[in-house]
Amino acid sequence: MSGWHIKNNVMRTVEILDVKPENPHVKTIFFRDEMCASAEPGQFIMVWIPGVDEIPLSISSIYPDGSSSVTVAEVGEATRALTRMRAGDIIGVRGPFGLGFKVSGERALVVGGGTGMAPLMMLINRLVEGGVDVTVIEGAENSNKLIFLDRLNNLSESMGVEVLFTTEDGSYGFRGLATDLAERVLCNKRFDVIYTCGPERMIRKAYEMAKAYSVDFQASLERYMRCAIGICGSCTIGKYRVCRDGPVFDMERIGEIEEYLGVLKYNESGERIPV
Ligand SMILES: Cc1cc2nc3c(=O)[nH]c(=O)nc-3n(C[C@H](O)[C@H](O)[C@H](O)COP(=O)(O)OP(=O)(O)OC[C@H]3O[C@@H](n4cnc5c(N)ncnc54)[C@H](O)[C@@H]3O)c2cc1C
Ligand code: FES
Repeated sequence: MSGWHIKNNVMRTVEILDVKPENPHVKTIFFRDEMCASAEPGQFIMVWIPGVDEIPLSISSIYPDGSSSVTVAEVGEATRALTRMRAGDIIGVRGPFGLGFKVSGERALVVGGGTGMAPLMMLINRLVEGGVDVTVIEGAENSNKLIFLDRLNNLSESMGVEVLFTTEDGSYGFRGLATDLAERVLCNKRFDVIYTCGPERMIRKAYEMAKAYSVDFQASLERYMRCAIGICGSCTIGKYRVCRDGPVFDMERIGEIEEYLGVLKYNESGERIPV
Protein backbone atom coordinates (compact mmCIF):
# COMPACT_ATOMS: atom_id res chain seq x y z
CA MET A 1 0.00 0.00 0.00
CA SER A 2 1.42 3.40 -0.93
CA GLY A 3 0.34 6.84 0.23
CA TRP A 4 1.76 8.76 -2.72
CA HIS A 5 1.98 8.92 -6.50
CA ILE A 6 4.97 9.89 -8.69
CA LYS A 7 3.43 13.28 -9.48
CA ASN A 8 3.28 14.13 -5.73
CA ASN A 9 7.09 13.99 -5.70
CA VAL A 10 7.54 16.80 -8.20
CA MET A 11 8.59 20.02 -6.45
CA ARG A 12 6.15 22.89 -6.89
CA THR A 13 7.02 26.46 -5.94
CA VAL A 14 4.25 28.30 -4.10
CA GLU A 15 3.83 31.78 -2.70
CA ILE A 16 3.26 32.22 1.02
CA LEU A 17 -0.20 33.77 1.43
CA ASP A 18 -0.09 34.54 5.13
CA VAL A 19 1.90 33.82 8.30
CA LYS A 20 0.12 33.53 11.65
CA PRO A 21 1.99 33.34 14.97
CA GLU A 22 0.67 30.53 17.23
CA ASN A 23 3.06 31.35 20.09
CA PRO A 24 6.50 33.06 20.34
CA HIS A 25 8.25 30.10 18.59
CA VAL A 26 5.61 28.55 16.34
CA LYS A 27 4.04 29.94 13.17
CA THR A 28 1.39 28.70 10.79
CA ILE A 29 2.25 29.33 7.14
CA PHE A 30 -0.53 29.41 4.55
CA PHE A 31 -0.10 28.67 0.82
CA ARG A 32 -2.14 27.32 -2.08
CA ASP A 33 -1.29 24.01 -3.80
CA GLU A 34 -3.80 21.65 -5.40
CA MET A 35 -2.13 18.42 -4.25
CA CYS A 36 -1.62 19.59 -0.68
CA ALA A 37 -5.30 20.54 -0.57
CA SER A 38 -6.16 16.87 -1.15
CA ALA A 39 -3.98 15.56 1.74
CA GLU A 40 -5.38 13.20 4.36
CA PRO A 41 -4.99 14.07 8.07
CA GLY A 42 -1.54 12.90 9.19
CA GLN A 43 0.15 13.13 5.79
CA PHE A 44 3.24 15.33 5.50
CA ILE A 45 5.04 17.36 2.85
CA MET A 46 8.68 18.25 2.20
CA VAL A 47 9.10 22.01 2.35
CA TRP A 48 12.08 23.56 0.55
CA ILE A 49 13.34 26.77 2.06
CA PRO A 50 15.40 28.27 -0.81
CA GLY A 51 19.12 28.33 -0.08
CA VAL A 52 18.71 26.63 3.30
CA ASP A 53 17.27 23.09 3.39
CA GLU A 54 14.27 20.88 2.70
CA ILE A 55 12.39 19.57 5.76
CA PRO A 56 9.33 17.40 6.50
CA LEU A 57 6.27 19.16 7.95
CA SER A 58 2.73 17.92 8.55
CA ILE A 59 -0.20 19.59 6.85
CA SER A 60 -2.03 21.35 9.70
CA SER A 61 -5.14 22.49 7.83
CA ILE A 62 -6.91 22.57 4.49
CA TYR A 63 -9.51 25.22 3.68
CA PRO A 64 -12.46 25.20 1.26
CA ASP A 65 -10.75 27.91 -0.88
CA GLY A 66 -7.96 25.43 -1.72
CA SER A 67 -5.36 26.86 0.63
CA SER A 68 -3.43 24.70 3.12
CA SER A 69 -1.06 25.33 5.99
CA VAL A 70 1.93 23.94 7.83
CA THR A 71 2.63 24.83 11.46
CA VAL A 72 6.32 25.05 12.26
CA ALA A 73 8.31 25.37 15.48
CA GLU A 74 11.65 27.14 15.36
CA VAL A 75 14.21 24.54 16.47
CA GLY A 76 17.18 24.99 14.09
CA GLU A 77 18.46 26.58 10.89
CA ALA A 78 15.72 25.58 8.45
CA THR A 79 12.79 26.16 10.78
CA ARG A 80 14.28 29.50 11.86
CA ALA A 81 14.52 30.61 8.22
CA LEU A 82 10.96 29.41 7.50
CA THR A 83 9.43 31.12 10.53
CA ARG A 84 11.04 34.39 9.39
CA MET A 85 9.44 34.26 5.93
CA ARG A 86 6.53 36.52 5.06
CA ALA A 87 3.53 36.71 2.74
CA GLY A 88 4.78 36.92 -0.85
CA ASP A 89 7.96 34.84 -0.22
CA ILE A 90 8.42 31.63 -2.22
CA ILE A 91 8.87 28.10 -0.85
CA GLY A 92 8.89 24.69 -2.57
CA VAL A 93 6.60 21.80 -1.69
CA ARG A 94 6.72 18.06 -2.50
CA GLY A 95 4.01 15.66 -1.40
CA PRO A 96 1.73 14.94 0.32
CA PHE A 97 3.45 11.72 1.41
CA GLY A 98 2.83 8.75 3.65
CA LEU A 99 -0.10 7.10 5.33
CA GLY A 100 -2.36 9.28 7.45
CA PHE A 101 -4.81 8.62 10.28
CA LYS A 102 -7.80 6.36 9.68
CA VAL A 103 -11.06 7.52 11.21
CA SER A 104 -12.59 4.69 13.22
CA GLY A 105 -14.87 4.27 16.23
CA GLU A 106 -17.37 6.61 17.85
CA ARG A 107 -15.41 7.97 20.82
CA ALA A 108 -11.89 9.28 20.21
CA LEU A 109 -9.24 10.51 22.63
CA VAL A 110 -6.69 12.76 20.87
CA VAL A 111 -3.44 13.36 22.78
CA GLY A 112 -0.94 15.86 21.38
CA GLY A 113 2.31 17.38 22.57
CA GLY A 114 3.93 20.51 21.10
CA THR A 115 3.85 20.70 17.30
CA GLY A 116 2.56 17.13 17.37
CA MET A 117 -0.76 18.96 17.45
CA ALA A 118 -0.23 19.99 13.78
CA PRO A 119 -1.37 16.74 12.10
CA LEU A 120 -3.88 16.15 14.91
CA MET A 121 -5.66 19.46 14.26
CA MET A 122 -6.68 18.36 10.79
CA LEU A 123 -7.71 14.97 12.18
CA ILE A 124 -9.85 16.58 14.89
CA ASN A 125 -11.78 18.52 12.23
CA ARG A 126 -12.30 15.32 10.24
CA LEU A 127 -13.53 13.44 13.34
CA VAL A 128 -15.96 16.24 14.24
CA GLU A 129 -17.32 16.30 10.65
CA GLY A 130 -17.87 12.53 10.96
CA GLY A 131 -19.93 12.91 14.14
CA VAL A 132 -17.31 11.29 16.39
CA ASP A 133 -17.40 12.17 20.12
CA VAL A 134 -13.93 13.78 20.54
CA THR A 135 -11.89 14.55 23.66
CA VAL A 136 -8.64 16.46 23.02
CA ILE A 137 -5.70 16.75 25.41
CA GLU A 138 -2.96 19.17 24.40
CA GLY A 139 0.17 19.22 26.54
CA ALA A 140 3.13 21.60 26.57
CA GLU A 141 5.92 22.64 28.93
CA ASN A 142 4.23 25.97 29.69
CA SER A 143 1.47 28.27 28.48
CA ASN A 144 3.81 29.98 25.96
CA LYS A 145 4.26 26.69 24.11
CA LEU A 146 0.59 25.77 23.64
CA ILE A 147 -0.72 26.14 20.08
CA PHE A 148 -4.12 26.28 18.35
CA LEU A 149 -5.82 27.65 21.48
CA ASP A 150 -8.33 29.68 19.42
CA ARG A 151 -9.17 26.86 17.03
CA LEU A 152 -9.62 24.32 19.83
CA ASN A 153 -11.65 26.66 22.05
CA ASN A 154 -13.90 27.42 19.05
CA LEU A 155 -14.44 23.71 18.45
CA SER A 156 -15.28 23.31 22.13
CA GLU A 157 -17.86 26.11 22.06
CA SER A 158 -19.43 25.44 18.67
CA MET A 159 -19.15 21.65 18.33
CA GLY A 160 -19.07 20.38 21.92
CA VAL A 161 -15.55 18.93 21.63
CA GLU A 162 -14.08 18.37 25.09
CA VAL A 163 -10.75 20.23 25.09
CA LEU A 164 -8.28 19.90 27.97
CA PHE A 165 -4.94 21.68 28.25
CA THR A 166 -2.08 20.59 30.44
CA THR A 167 1.25 22.28 31.17
CA GLU A 168 4.23 20.86 33.03
CA ASP A 169 4.59 24.01 35.15
CA GLY A 170 0.85 24.44 35.70
CA SER A 171 0.81 27.86 33.98
CA TYR A 172 -2.31 26.89 31.96
CA GLY A 173 -4.87 24.14 32.45
CA PHE A 174 -3.91 21.03 34.43
CA ARG A 175 -0.42 20.68 35.87
CA GLY A 176 1.52 17.69 34.59
CA LEU A 177 2.11 15.69 31.44
CA ALA A 178 -0.50 15.09 28.73
CA THR A 179 -0.29 11.37 29.48
CA ASP A 180 -0.98 11.95 33.22
CA LEU A 181 -4.23 13.64 32.27
CA ALA A 182 -4.98 11.00 29.62
CA GLU A 183 -4.77 8.32 32.31
CA ARG A 184 -7.34 10.19 34.45
CA VAL A 185 -9.64 10.65 31.47
CA LEU A 186 -9.34 6.97 30.50
CA CYS A 187 -10.33 5.93 34.04
CA ASN A 188 -13.62 7.82 33.71
CA LYS A 189 -14.70 7.35 30.11
CA ARG A 190 -14.62 4.54 27.59
CA PHE A 191 -12.90 5.34 24.25
CA ASP A 192 -12.68 3.34 21.04
CA VAL A 193 -9.38 4.82 19.88
CA ILE A 194 -6.47 6.98 21.01
CA TYR A 195 -4.80 9.15 18.34
CA THR A 196 -1.47 10.71 19.26
CA CYS A 197 1.51 12.71 17.98
CA GLY A 198 4.30 14.50 19.82
CA PRO A 199 7.44 13.61 21.76
CA GLU A 200 8.13 9.91 21.28
CA ARG A 201 8.28 9.17 25.01
CA MET A 202 4.76 10.57 25.27
CA ILE A 203 3.69 8.33 22.37
CA ARG A 204 5.27 5.35 24.12
CA LYS A 205 3.31 6.05 27.32
CA ALA A 206 0.09 6.53 25.38
CA TYR A 207 0.72 3.19 23.63
CA GLU A 208 1.19 1.43 26.99
CA MET A 209 -2.09 2.99 28.21
CA ALA A 210 -3.94 1.93 25.07
CA LYS A 211 -2.82 -1.65 25.72
CA ALA A 212 -3.74 -1.46 29.41
CA TYR A 213 -7.23 -0.07 28.71
CA SER A 214 -7.78 -2.22 25.55
CA VAL A 215 -8.30 0.84 23.36
CA ASP A 216 -7.31 0.95 19.69
CA PHE A 217 -4.31 3.18 18.90
CA GLN A 218 -2.83 5.25 16.08
CA ALA A 219 0.34 7.34 16.38
CA SER A 220 2.25 9.61 14.01
CA LEU A 221 6.01 9.10 14.34
CA GLU A 222 8.95 11.30 13.36
CA ARG A 223 12.29 10.16 12.02
CA TYR A 224 15.07 11.96 10.14
CA MET A 225 13.87 12.25 6.52
CA ARG A 226 15.53 13.12 3.24
CA CYS A 227 13.90 11.54 0.18
CA ALA A 228 10.39 11.07 1.69
CA ILE A 229 9.64 8.28 -0.80
CA GLY A 230 11.18 5.19 0.77
CA ILE A 231 14.55 5.22 -1.05
CA CYS A 232 17.29 6.62 1.20
CA GLY A 233 16.55 4.61 4.36
CA SER A 234 17.26 7.50 6.74
CA CYS A 235 13.84 7.21 8.41
CA THR A 236 14.03 3.49 9.22
CA ILE A 237 12.36 2.17 12.36
CA GLY A 238 12.69 -1.59 12.65
CA LYS A 239 11.40 -3.12 9.40
CA TYR A 240 9.54 0.06 8.39
CA ARG A 241 10.40 3.34 6.69
CA VAL A 242 8.45 6.08 8.40
CA CYS A 243 8.07 8.23 5.25
CA ARG A 244 6.47 5.42 3.22
CA ASP A 245 4.97 3.02 5.78
CA GLY A 246 3.97 5.84 8.19
CA PRO A 247 4.19 8.42 9.55
CA VAL A 248 0.96 7.09 11.10
CA PHE A 249 1.22 3.58 12.54
CA ASP A 250 -1.65 1.58 14.00
CA MET A 251 -1.60 -0.65 17.08
CA GLU A 252 -0.51 -3.77 15.20
CA ARG A 253 2.40 -2.16 13.37
CA ILE A 254 3.54 -0.24 16.49
CA GLY A 255 3.63 -3.63 18.21
CA GLU A 256 6.12 -4.83 15.57
CA ILE A 257 8.52 -1.94 16.28
CA GLU A 258 7.89 -1.35 19.99
CA GLU A 259 11.48 -2.22 20.91
CA TYR A 260 12.55 1.01 19.12
CA LEU A 261 9.64 3.25 20.16
CA GLY A 262 10.90 5.96 22.51
CA VAL A 263 14.29 4.20 22.58
CA LEU A 264 16.42 4.49 19.39
CA LYS A 265 16.57 6.47 16.16
CA TYR A 266 19.10 7.43 13.47
CA ASN A 267 20.51 10.96 13.26
CA GLU A 268 21.44 12.85 10.07
CA SER A 269 24.80 11.03 9.97
CA GLY A 270 23.14 7.63 10.13
CA GLU A 271 24.30 6.97 13.73
CA ARG A 272 21.95 5.23 16.16
CA ILE A 273 21.11 7.63 18.98
CA PRO A 274 18.71 7.53 21.95
CA VAL A 275 15.31 9.13 21.27
C1 LIG B 1 6.82 13.31 9.21
C2 LIG B 1 7.30 14.51 9.95
C3 LIG B 1 6.42 15.55 10.20
C4 LIG B 1 6.86 16.68 10.88
N1 LIG B 1 5.96 17.68 11.11
C5 LIG B 1 6.34 18.80 11.76
C6 LIG B 1 5.43 19.88 11.95
O1 LIG B 1 4.26 19.81 11.54
N2 LIG B 1 5.89 20.98 12.60
C7 LIG B 1 7.18 21.09 13.05
O2 LIG B 1 7.53 22.12 13.61
N3 LIG B 1 8.07 20.07 12.89
C8 LIG B 1 7.69 18.94 12.24
N4 LIG B 1 8.61 17.93 12.03
C9 LIG B 1 9.99 18.11 12.53
C10 LIG B 1 10.78 19.01 11.56
O3 LIG B 1 10.96 18.35 10.33
C11 LIG B 1 12.15 19.35 12.18
O4 LIG B 1 11.93 20.14 13.33
C12 LIG B 1 13.01 20.15 11.20
O5 LIG B 1 13.42 19.33 10.13
C13 LIG B 1 14.22 20.74 11.91
O6 LIG B 1 15.08 21.34 10.97
P1 LIG B 1 16.09 22.52 11.42
O7 LIG B 1 17.08 22.73 10.33
O8 LIG B 1 15.33 23.72 11.85
O9 LIG B 1 16.72 21.95 12.73
P2 LIG B 1 18.07 21.10 12.97
O10 LIG B 1 18.93 21.89 13.87
O11 LIG B 1 18.64 20.62 11.66
O12 LIG B 1 17.48 19.85 13.76
C14 LIG B 1 16.69 19.98 14.94
C15 LIG B 1 15.99 18.66 15.17
O13 LIG B 1 15.13 18.35 14.05
C16 LIG B 1 15.51 17.10 13.47
N5 LIG B 1 15.54 17.21 12.00
C17 LIG B 1 16.37 17.97 11.28
N6 LIG B 1 16.19 17.75 9.96
C18 LIG B 1 15.23 16.80 9.87
C19 LIG B 1 14.63 16.10 8.79
N7 LIG B 1 15.01 16.31 7.53
N8 LIG B 1 13.70 15.15 9.08
C20 LIG B 1 13.30 14.93 10.34
N9 LIG B 1 13.84 15.55 11.41
C21 LIG B 1 14.79 16.46 11.18
C22 LIG B 1 16.93 16.83 13.96
O14 LIG B 1 17.18 15.43 13.99
C23 LIG B 1 16.94 17.45 15.31
O15 LIG B 1 16.39 16.57 16.26
C24 LIG B 1 8.19 16.77 11.35
C25 LIG B 1 9.09 15.73 11.10
C26 LIG B 1 8.65 14.61 10.43
C27 LIG B 1 9.60 13.49 10.18
S1 FES C 1 13.21 9.54 4.04
FE1 FES C 1 14.24 8.31 2.61
S2 FES C 1 13.46 6.32 3.01
FE2 FES C 1 12.27 7.64 4.29
